[in-house]
Amino acid sequence: MSLFEITKEHLETGLRGFPVGYCVTSSVDPQKGLFYTDRPLAEIASWEPERVIYLLYHGSDPSQEELGAFKRDLQKRALCSEKTLDAVTKLPREGHPMALFSAAILILGMEALTDDYREDCLNLIAKLPQLTAAVINHHAGWGKTPDSRPELGYMENFAQMVRAPNKSPTLTGIFSLFNILHYDHGGGNLSTFVGKAVASGLEDLYGSISAAMNALAGPRHGRANQECLAFVQEMLSEVGAGATESQVEEAIRGKLSRKELVYGFGHAVLRVEDPRATVFYEESQKQFSNDPLVRIAFLIRKAGTKVLKENPKVACPYPNVDAISGSLLTAAGFPFPEYYTVLFGLSRAVGIAIQIVYERCEARGGKGTPIVRPKYLFKHRHSDDT
Ligand code: MLT
Repeated sequence: MSLFEITKEHLETGLRGFPVGYCVTSSVDPQKGLFYTDRPLAEIASWEPERVIYLLYHGSDPSQEELGAFKRDLQKRALCSEKTLDAVTKLPREGHPMALFSAAILILGMEALTDDYREDCLNLIAKLPQLTAAVINHHAGWGKTPDSRPELGYMENFAQMVRAPNKSPTLTGIFSLFNILHYDHGGGNLSTFVGKAVASGLEDLYGSISAAMNALAGPRHGRANQECLAFVQEMLSEVGAGATESQVEEAIRGKLSRKELVYGFGHAVLRVEDPRATVFYEESQKQFSNDPLVRIAFLIRKAGTKVLKENPKVACPYPNVDAISGSLLTAAGFPFPEYYTVLFGLSRAVGIAIQIVYERCEARGGKGTPIVRPKYLFKHRHSDDT
C-alpha cells in the first residue's frame, strides 16, 4: 500500500505530512484537533493529571482502584536524590532556563537510570515536578525548593514547590490545565520526533528526553509561548487597555505591512482553531475576563483571524495553543514568561517518554523500531537543482 508518493518538491520541506510510524498515545486531526488515544481534548481537559497520564501510558481510562494504585506508584517514585537537587543548584544561572532544564534531566539520569525504558519512563514522570521546580527556583533566584509532598497530587505538589512571589490560589488549577493540555501532540512534533530519533540509537530515556527538550527550546516550537506573550504585551502597550477590535485590527495590519510577525496563529497540521487554545480561551473567559492582557488576547484572536483569512497563502489563519496560554498564566499570577517553555517541557516530557517506551519496547512485535536513518540526496552547492 502506498501512503505517499515522494517527489523532489517534497525535499527540504521539514518532512511535512510524511507518515513515518505509529503513535499510540495521541493524534492530531487537521479539522478536529488533538485526541488523547481516541478521546477529544475537550473531554479530558477537566480530568486530574494522573488520570490523563494513566490514559496515555496504558491506553485506557483507569477504574478508581487502578487510578489509586497508579497515584501511589508515582508518589513512591517522586523524590529526586539530594545529590541530584544539589547538582542542579550548582548549574550556571545565565542563559535560558531550558538549557538548565535539559542539563538537569541528564543529571537526574546519571543517578536514577535503570536502563529499563518502562521503569525510567515512570520514574522520570514522577520526579519531574520536583526537578522542574528546582530548576525554576534556582534560575529565578527564588531560594531553596520546599520539600516535595507527592501525596498532595501531581501538580498541586509542583505548585507548592515553585517559589514564585505572590502566588494566587487559582494558579494551581491553571498549572494543572496547562500541564494536561501539553502532554502530547501526535508523534511528529519536533521534540517528540527528536526524542524518539535519539532513543532509536538506544540512548537511554533521560538522554533522549534531554535532547527532546533542546528541540522544544526553539522559538518555532516550545518557546513560541514566551514569544507570544511578548507579542500580546506589546499590542497592549501599543493600543491601550480600552482598545476596540478595529484598533487591534489596524495594529495587526500595520505590523504585517512592516513585515513584522504576528504571533500565535497557524499550525503545521491544524486547519481550525487549536482546540487547546479554545479550552484556554474558555478558562480565561471564566476566570479572568477583566484582565487587560486577556482582553487584548481575545481581540487579537478575532482581528488576527479576520486579517490573516484575507491572505490565501496562509494555510491556517486561526490561533494556536500559544496565542493565549501566556496571557492566562500571567493573569493567574505567574507573570514569568522565561519559564513558560519549561512548563511546556514538564508536560511534554510525559508524552515523549511514553512514546519512546512504545517505540523501544512494543513496536514491531516487541523488537522496537530500527535506528532512524533517512536518506539525503547529494547535490553540488552551486547546482541549479532546487
Ligand atoms: C506541539 O504541541 O508540539 C505544537 O503544536 C507543534 C506541533 O504539533 O507540531
